[in-house]
Parts: sequence; C-alpha cells; structure tokens
Amino acid sequence: MATWTLVVSAIAGLIGLLTAFVNFGTIFFNYRHGVKPFNTDGCVQLNVPGGCEDIVIHAPSHTAFLACGRLDLRTQWFPPLERLIKLTAESDAVYKYHLKSGELVPLTFVNFTGIYRSHGLTIYEHPASEAGTVTVMLVNHGHPDHSSVEIFDHRLDSNTLIHVRTITDPLIRTPNAVVALSPRSFFLTNDFYHRLPGPMRTLEKMTSRAWTDVVVYQPAVEGREALHSSEVRRAYGGLVYANGIDIDHDRGLVFVASATGRRVTVFDMDPDTLELTLRMVLKDLPILPDNLRVDHATGDIYAAGIMRPIEVVTPAHGDHFHPDAKIAWGVVRLSANSISDNRVQGVAKHMPIGDVNRAANATLLLAHPGPWLNLASVAVLDPDNHRVMVGSVVSEGVGLCPI
Ligand SMILES: *[C@@H]1O[C@H](CO)[C@@H](O)[C@H](O)[C@H]1NC(C)=O
Ligand SMILES: *[C@@H]1O[C@H](CO)[C@@H](O)[C@H](O)[C@H]1NC(C)=O
Repeated sequence: MATWTLVVSAIAGLIGLLTAFVNFGTIFFNYRHGVKPFNTDGCVQLNVPGGCEDIVIHAPSHTAFLACGRLDLRTQWFPPLERLIKLTAESDAVYKYHLKSGELVPLTFVNFTGIYRSHGLTIYEHPASEAGTVTVMLVNHGHPDHSSVEIFDHRLDSNTLIHVRTITDPLIRTPNAVVALSPRSFFLTNDFYHRLPGPMRTLEKMTSRAWTDVVVYQPAVEGREALHSSEVRRAYGGLVYANGIDIDHDRGLVFVASATGRRVTVFDMDPDTLELTLRMVLKDLPILPDNLRVDHATGDIYAAGIMRPIEVVTPAHGDHFHPDAKIAWGVVRLSANSISDNRVQGVAKHMPIGDVNRAANATLLLAHPGPWLNLASVAVLDPDNHRVMVGSVVSEGVGLCPI
C-alpha cells in the first residue's frame, strides 16, 4: 500500500474515533456566536478580595455568605482547575455581606487548624429554638492528598466560624458543591471521576463521560438507629460533570447541574431515607451550568455558567487566570412552574441522562463576554435589592446586577 493511502486511512480512522467520543457539540457550543453584553450595563462591582466561587443568601438575616479565594493562591493550588503546583499555608476566606448596610466582613475560623482552599458553600438554618445560629459547610481543597467538607457553627451576631467536624471519605473524591440537609448532613457533588490531571481526566472532560455522582453524608442521630451501614454513600451515579446542587425543602426537590451536559437534573428526595428518585431533566440550557441557587420565595432556580466552552479549552485564550483572557458567561432563571408541570412518571433510576425529553424553560437574564467576572460560577437572587450577586472562580470581586 502506498504511504499516502496509509496516511489517509489513519487520518480517517482518527477522525472517526474523535467524532465517536469527543463531544464536539459541547466544545463548539455557541462557537459561531460572539457573546455581547446583555442586561449588564447596570451592574456594579462589590470589591471582595479574590474570586468567590460560591455565594449563599440567608434571607431572614439579609446576609450573603461568600466562599472566596485569593487568585495568586488559586493559580498555585486549586485541584478543580488542575492546579497542583504548591499548597501554601495561607487559607482562603469566607465573607459575610449585609444586603442592607453593604457591610462586608471576613469570618474568623475558631478551632480549625487546617488550611482552607475554597469551593462550594452551604448554610443550614437551625430550628426556632436556636434562632440566630446557622451551620456553614465548606468544600475544602486545602489538604495535599484529599478534599473534605468542613462543618462550622456560626452565630449570626458574630464574625466567627466555630469548627465542628471534618468529613473525609473515599467517596468524596472531587467535591464541587454541597447542600446542607440538616445541621449535620449534606449532599455533595463529585465533578470528576479522576481526581488527578492526566490523559484519563482529559478524556473524561472532552467526551462528557457520565462518570460523576452525588454522595450523601448522613450520620446516625442520637437516639435513632443509623439507616445505612456507612455515613457516606452514593446517592445517585451516572451523571455528566455533576456541578452545582441545591434543594427546595418545601417541595422535596433536589437539583443537580451537569456542566458539560448543559442540563439540570431534578430529583424527588425522600425526607427520611434521603433517597433520590429521578423526576425530570431540564435540558439544552444556554449556558454550561455551574452552581444552582433556589430562590426560596418563588422556587425559581438561578444558575450561572460559561457560554462558549471553546474559550476554556483552546490555548488561544491562554491561561484562565490571565486578566485579558475572555471567557463569556451567562445567568439563567429556570421557572419553578416548568418543574411541576413536566413531571415524568415511572422513570427508571440510573437511566442514561438525555432520555428524558423535556426542554428547560430557561430565561437568560444576563450575559457578558468577559474578561469581567470570567468563569462566573454562581448567581444568587438578592431579594432585598432586586438584583443578582454573581461570583467567579478566576476574577476579582462580585457583580451586583439589577434584574
Ligand atoms: C474549641 O475546642 C476546645 C477543645 O476541644 C473546646 O474546649 C472549646 O470549647 C472549643 N471552642 C469553641 C468556641 O467551641
Ligand atoms: C415558560 O416560559 C414562558 C415565558 O418565557 C412563560 O410564559 C411560561 O409560563 C413558562 N412555562 C412554564 C411551564 O413555566
């Protein structure tokens, strides 16, 4: 056989292999469309030191809790973005921002001696008898060998986080987002199967493998037998790039974002066993959803995420952290009605995602081409000021955008 026929068949074979596995639809999503600023003219910036990957609002006390990190530290050590160069002893910070007074204060750790490297954050409001206290749970990448969830108690009239417990487990591999179910239990997403950078992790990312999961931590309660043999267990597997997670306690619904899947999977939660049953999938979002935040007043879900994935995978755009790199982002609202109206009955657990054919009723609220708030990762409704707070992984500050 002539050399050129060998070359041609090799190229054809390679293209065939690539198209079979690589998710071109995802990578080139929005490739042709430049993103123009949309509804962002009125945004102002809150000058929080560092980038805030996650933000949660505690409406009764008009307080936002922000999990933020210095960008120079993140470029050195941030496993979710495959930065494993050097873990320094300095910790990231949690800030409290008062929605009415505009006061921003860092919270001080008490009885926590480890290093904190921030990612997901969740709060749980204690029952009325302990009003004035919330539990704060933080995903922590501040250990060289594993990531963890740190549980703290916080009095709303204080500026301290009192450490209660560190949760580590082989099932907590690549934790991204966490949502508290009680003062001592939570759901958490693992966003990759492979923790360490390398060919397998790259393959997993580029081909959108459904290898990620939701795990639950549910310790035995005093005076009540443990429901399961292990405190940490898998609650649901077979998800594509599980990312944000949040809960609607009133309706017993749990929402999980699939970033490269461009979808949000909706589960019914059994309040006693914490079992998750697939309800429906909100597909084809105009963004790759990162964190999800339920507005508890309406049940609507707010999500932020990138709009042009090619911008994070092409070397042309260089380093995520470079101030001139442009990574377009958007914020969508998913209507609460579209969830109750589209109930899918009798869906088998662990069925391949994508077979539940319901499009999301998503409204694009904001869009921006970057570099402002590059890689925006969270949008949360601030009910006091009719705006959303937008946080980001690789840019300084928080956007305050009227909607
Ligand atoms: C910190 O830990 C010590 C030792 O376990 C304990 O005695 C103390 O009460 C803790 N502090 C707070 C504020 O809980
Ligand atoms: C879907 O969105 C449209 C407006 O964009 C709204 O009029 C309609 O009520 C929504 N449907 C559901 C089921 O939420």
